Amino acid sequence: MSHPPSSPLCAARAGPLSGRVRVPGDKSISHRALMLGALAAGRTTIGGLLEGEDVLNTAKALQAMGCPVRKVGQSWEVLGRGVGGLAQPDGDIDYGNSGTGLRLMMGLVAGHAMRARFAGDASLSRRPMGRVLRPLMQMGLEVEEAGRERLPLTIRGTSDLLPIEYRLPVPSAQIKSAVLLAGLHATGATTVIEGEATRDHTERMLRHFGAEVTVAERDGARAITVTGDAELEGRSVNVPGDPSSTAFLVAAALIVPGSEVTIEGVLVNPTRMGFYVTLEEMGAALAFQNQREEGGEPVADVHVRHSKLRGVRVPSERAPRMIDEYPVLACLAAYAAGETRMEGLAELKVKESDRLAATAAGLAANGVAAKVDGDTLIVAGGQGAHTSVRGGGTVATHLDHRIAMAFLTLGLGADRPVTVDDADTIATSFPEFRGLMEKLGASFTVPEAAR
Ligand code: S3P
Repeated sequence: MSHPPSSPLCAARAGPLSGRVRVPGDKSISHRALMLGALAAGRTTIGGLLEGEDVLNTAKALQAMGCPVRKVGQSWEVLGRGVGGLAQPDGDIDYGNSGTGLRLMMGLVAGHAMRARFAGDASLSRRPMGRVLRPLMQMGLEVEEAGRERLPLTIRGTSDLLPIEYRLPVPSAQIKSAVLLAGLHATGATTVIEGEATRDHTERMLRHFGAEVTVAERDGARAITVTGDAELEGRSVNVPGDPSSTAFLVAAALIVPGSEVTIEGVLVNPTRMGFYVTLEEMGAALAFQNQREEGGEPVADVHVRHSKLRGVRVPSERAPRMIDEYPVLACLAAYAAGETRMEGLAELKVKESDRLAATAAGLAANGVAAKVDGDTLIVAGGQGAHTSVRGGGTVATHLDHRIAMAFLTLGLGADRPVTVDDADTIATSFPEFRGLMEKLGASFTVPEAAR
């Protein structure tokens, strides 16, 4: 299942980027729409679903559990089995690279009297699963490989799940969501308490499908409660554009002089906006036009013009709202005047790769002074008006799509081209990345040695 680096790609300095584009649907919302559709009674129709490998793995997992999921025209259709209605899968479920899909699916399995064995690629097999298994085991889930916290894992759910109250030990929407999804199957109320607000798509979508969810403030924390033995009803869902994918296009426009780009229909949920808040502090010319609400989520067209940026301090409280955007922010910081300090990044070490180390190494390979100090990443940026990036390096992506996209974006403004060792991984979250960037005026090449 390991997938050796095989598709290097190279980004060279681009002329001004311009145009209006749409990015594919949000990854977090796409996973949730499929899963809640499967737990609902009746038909769910999903428009704008992200057709990246991660989300397709969720579709396949649900199919393996007896839930029909198929594409009909431009939309996806899920014929839900009702809460507790999924069936035991026959073989292993290979979740590829997707931590979100896997962890949320463990929450679903917990509420079913079924046995499921999960596997994944080399990246996913290194990631910690104990953080999700621990609360689910309190509810009644069993893990056959006692004490093991990494894939492959075999878990057994139960139709007698217990409701719990659980305080998140780390700010993680995946843990929160796994517990809430399991809680749908328990008798009574399941509560998750989070000290820092993480993305709230599960709460919003549970309500959209008819579940009872309350959110209360408790000593400065958020207590989210779902009522169990729930009955959900099939709905129509429109998935807005992914702000994490949008971040690469926005960063490219900020890096390349003369650029002006609009990305239409982007999710602007406050729990996802940390990157954009930081850009405004750095001096970026950003506008959120035509703001509207679609299917319970706020959406806008993001307009961005090339801007001279200044380095800033990004406080640790902001981390949950921009967790996936640090690699591209660090690449952008290389073009800003002065130092950028990004604090509180411990969670970056357990993403698709150790993103703290991978980002610092990629910057260093391209002549940017970057330092990791505990959980803080410090990027030197330029002096005064001089903010060029040398480039010329090859970046190890470690099966991490966001490392690949961040450094291809870095290359669009660098003095010498920047190469990433494997661009295949981009298909997990943003298969249209290269096509959309090229539509805006960027160009990428496959290095000669790899042709
Ligand atoms: C996600 C939550 C975040 C994020 C991931 C998607 C989600 O992970 O990094 O890309 O959809 O819930 P954590 O919950 O581990 O922070």
